[in-house]
Amino acid sequence: PVVACVLAGGIGSRLYPASRSDRPKQLLSLVGERSLLARTVGRTAFADERYVLTREAFADAVHDHAPRAGVLVEPAGKDTGPALVYAAWRLRDQFETEPVLVCLPSDHHVADDAAFAARLERAAEIAVETDGLVTVGIEPTRPSPGYGYVVPAGELEAAGDDESGSDYAAVAQFTEKPDRDTARDLVEGGAYWNAGVFAWTPSTLLAAARDSSLAPLVDALEAGNPDEGFDAAAPISVDYAIMERATDVFVTPLSVDWDDLGTWDAVGRVLGAGDETGNDVAAGEVLAIDATGNVVAAPEKHVSLLAVDDLIVAAVDDRLLVAPREASQRVREVVDRLREHD
Ligand code: GDD
Ligand code: MG
Repeated sequence: PVVACVLAGGIGSRLYPASRSDRPKQLLSLVGERSLLARTVGRTAFADERYVLTREAFADAVHDHAPRAGVLVEPAGKDTGPALVYAAWRLRDQFETEPVLVCLPSDHHVADDAAFAARLERAAEIAVETDGLVTVGIEPTRPSPGYGYVVPAGELEAAGDDESGSDYAAVAQFTEKPDRDTARDLVEGGAYWNAGVFAWTPSTLLAAARDSSLAPLVDALEAGNPDEGFDAAAPISVDYAIMERATDVFVTPLSVDWDDLGTWDAVGRVLGAGDETGNDVAAGEVLAIDATGNVVAAPEKHVSLLAVDDLIVAAVDDRLLVAPREASQRVREVVDRLREHD
């Protein structure tokens, strides 16, 4: 069977103050009525079964947002590396035959749900054909340091382009969150963005994890001690822990309008998308005088911008964040600092 596994255990610190520890990004309705999580689960109709992978504190809310999906609760929030290893271990023997897992984040904006779902379905086939770790690649539109980059070893044809080409290739190099200059070189060299969407069988992922810093966690799981394994595990994303170093990684390209709604810059780009004053207003009412390029997220507020450009102005509940838009990736530093003082 093909089993979709939606990652929904992160907090989304870069979207503070909309995201808070009791109200993570994936449960926000940034886009329209439904939460990011509900929309993500809605894109997994191709799968035979679906699970949402999250932490204890979010489990009830996750169930409310995705009532028809199973909820897998990891013992502790240790980022996507431990979480995905845990899901593989839990799901490996759950079915009559070993499943293929299609793992996807819950913080994405996707313009064409059908094309997205078709590519994920294909990724699952490729995982079986290659017995490898499959990632979905997106053609980059800018050298963002917030993504992982995948360099294919061969030429790739987008689906339906040309029957002579292959719709997947081995990955020669995987680089997670490079600096801006490296990102520029990667984009010019034909690298894809890692969409953060992966397909693999549990056995293949667990074998790759055994070859990584997550080996002690795999041992603890196999010994039946998930809690101890998670206590001892250091937080690390699957990209750093496994994808950067694994062999047998493959990429299949997807061409849809896509964005990770992980930062205020992205929220402004996707949801604000420029009003008549030249600002990206995701929420709130704005008066702008000599002010452009600002992203404003201030539900139920009236915001006046005077002679300021390219700022984030996010006002949610009793919290206000003001920062230059280019510091979008750094907003998590605010959350870290606030936590120290709690
Ligand atoms: N279950 C669980 N447990 N989920 C988690 C955890 C955790 O501890 N931490 C994060 N997640 C979830 C988030 O909720 C999100 O849906 C997804 O995992 C990805 O985490 P992000 O923190 O948003 O990662 P990223 O955006 O910085 O980077 C990843 O995604 C990019 C594309 O959107 C990487 O895979 C990059 O390589 C990739 O380009
Ligand atoms: Mg993300």
